[in-house]
This record gives sequence, C-alpha cells and structure tokens, in this order.
Amino acid sequence: MLKIAVMVSGGGTNLQAIIDGVVDGTITNAEISVVISNNPGVYALERARNAGIDALVISPKEYESREAFNAALLAKVQEYNVDLIVLAGFLVVIPEAMIEAYENRIINIHPSLIPSFCGTGFYGLKVHEKALERGVKVSGATVHFVDKGTDTGPIILQQPVEVLEEDTPKTLQQRIMEQAEWKIMPKAIDLIANGRVTVTDGKVTIKNN
Ligand code: GAR
Repeated sequence: MLKIAVMVSGGGTNLQAIIDGVVDGTITNAEISVVISNNPGVYALERARNAGIDALVISPKEYESREAFNAALLAKVQEYNVDLIVLAGFLVVIPEAMIEAYENRIINIHPSLIPSFCGTGFYGLKVHEKALERGVKVSGATVHFVDKGTDTGPIILQQPVEVLEEDTPKTLQQRIMEQAEWKIMPKAIDLIANGRVTVTDGKVTIKNN
C-alpha cells in the first residue's frame, strides 16, 4: 500500500479528486496518510478532515528561518513514513533536502502543457493569463516528477484541453481542471502505486498492465 502525503496551499480541488479516486477505485493500492498546508484556513484542510485524514498546517510564518521551516516540513513527511509526496497546488518552493531524500517520489500538477507556460512565476491563474495572452489554441495540464528545477522534472502524464475564443483566465482554469487535472492526477498516482512508472535518463516509461 503506497502511503501518500498531499501538500496543498488553497482550495484543494485536486486533493478532492485524489480522495474521491481512492474511494471510487480509480486509485488502487494507495492511501493518503496526511495532508499538509502552508496556509491555515484553506478549504483543502477541511476537505481532508471531512475525509478523516490528518490535516496539518506547517507555515513558514511560524518558523524563525526558512531553514527551520524546511526542516520541519521534511521531518513531518518522514514521521508519516510516506512513499510518495503529491504537490496538489502547493505554492511553496520544495526544500532541496526533500528533493534529495525523495528522488522520483515527489509529483506535481501544473496547469499547462509543459514546457509551455511554466517555470518561476507561472502558477495558478497567471498560467492561464499568459496562455490567453499568447493566443494558444490548446493548453492543458501536466503531472511530473519534481527535480531541483522549477517544472523541469520528468513528465508522467499530460492532457490537452481546447482553448475557446470567449475564454477568460478563470473559465480556462476551470475547464483545464475538469478535463485534465482531476483526471491525470489520480491516474498518475494509480500508475505509481501499481508499479507501472519507471524513470530512466530523465524520461518516464509507463508499463502496460
Ligand atoms: C491547480 O490548478 C494546480 O494545477 C495549480 O494550482 C491549482 C490548485 O488548485 N498549481 C500550480 O500552478 C503549480 N505551479 P486546487 O487547490 O483546487 O487543487
């Protein structure tokens, strides 16, 4: 049974898709051991508690230095002895020590087709603003492993989504969540939990059943 920590900063719709996936069998051989937020009072924490999952706040504001915060975050996932860390809208830079300790065991969802509209400064609605500014006809979402760069790790799954002429950043964000993020995030976790994902030379291979 793969033990998962989900890290969140906001509303937690991707967290909800994972919770639902475990319940409805889209995700097998996995359980969410803990949900960690850097923000107190976000709805993601309530979603976790409603599902009977430990929900914790580890906020940089509670620590005297970034190093102390980073150490606390790493200590907490180690305490829960998790096998996989899932960043589901977690808008904090992941400490290097955590990336080293969990190589190819941290995954992130990004709301574009990487390598478009990603990297430093591209998060949340900003990604969709930039996509609309550029006039792309297709956007989407990507689940990838986390390495030391920003959105540069091995790509696991991508799902394209059509951009409509009347889209605003908000309507595009919503459609990408519904048609891509909430599908490929649970799917990627299920593939990992069932030993179907391998990484070689920075590239992911998915084994067939
Ligand atoms: C999602 O759209 C996710 O792709 C994005 O934040 C949102 C979180 O929503 N993540 C990033 O932009 C990371 N660079 P949620 O809290 O409802 O899951």
